[in-house]
Amino acid sequence: MAFMICKTLEACSLLPKENCMKILLIGASGTIGRAVHALLAPRHDIVTVGRSSGDLRADFTQPETLQKMFEAAGQVDAIVSTAGNLHFGPLSEMTAEQFNTGLQDKLLGQLGQRWLRDGGSITLTSGVAATEPIRHGANASTVNAALNGFVTGAAVELQRGLRINAVSPTLLTESAEAYGSVFPGFETVPAARVALAYQRSVEGAQTGKVFEVI
Ligand SMILES: NC(=O)c1ccc[n+]([C@@H]2O[C@H](COP(=O)([O-])OP(=O)(O)OC[C@H]3O[C@@H](n4cnc5c(N)ncnc54)[C@H](OP(=O)(O)O)[C@@H]3O)[C@@H](O)[C@H]2O)c1
Repeated sequence: MAFMICKTLEACSLLPKENCMKILLIGASGTIGRAVHALLAPRHDIVTVGRSSGDLRADFTQPETLQKMFEAAGQVDAIVSTAGNLHFGPLSEMTAEQFNTGLQDKLLGQLGQRWLRDGGSITLTSGVAATEPIRHGANASTVNAALNGFVTGAAVELQRGLRINAVSPTLLTESAEAYGSVFPGFETVPAARVALAYQRSVEGAQTGKVFEVI
């Protein structure tokens, strides 16, 4: 695996460019994705991915598009996903399809470890509803708790020094207007602070960890 070296440090400018990580950032155009990009792009080579924008396109609900995206990207040092869909609605009215929203996105769609170089990492995004239930949030709690469990379980099985973590943010300040009524009384956290948890996951040494940002 290529070691993380800060491109912006003068001393490191003498080192070859491959010492910076090649990072696949899925969901780069989103609220969290933009903040992660802003933090990591000065030091790393970021390949942005989205459904409708980015260097490469993929939709988690269509596995063949993911496969094509990974093939186009080639081997990378880190995969970061700040993408994912959740269904918000009353439990009594939830259809099976709605209840399953997000499970395929997060648990199946993000299994990209065979595209990682030795020692590489995967960072997924869950959320506070895993442990702090909200009204109309049964699917969100299910998906986020499953994702956290997946990270814990997958970490002990990964080979070649690969690592996997999740970032579990509370409501973002930037999303308060849109979702604040669903999270009454929740303190919000700025996207820039959430992005630091992704940096810890990608550049740090931990694995099987859920980085809660609350
Ligand atoms: N915002 C919050 O307050 C908050 C708090 C806790 C957890 N989260 C979780 O964090 C994740 C990102 O949240 P966000 O607010 O940054 O979302 P966002 O602003 O809606 O952005 C989502 C990003 O993911 C991409 N995306 C969505 N569905 C996709 C799919 N099926 N396949 C591929 N890419 C897809 C979007 O690309 P296109 O635009 O091209 O579709 C976009 O780049 C979500 O899982 C959310 O549940 C968010």
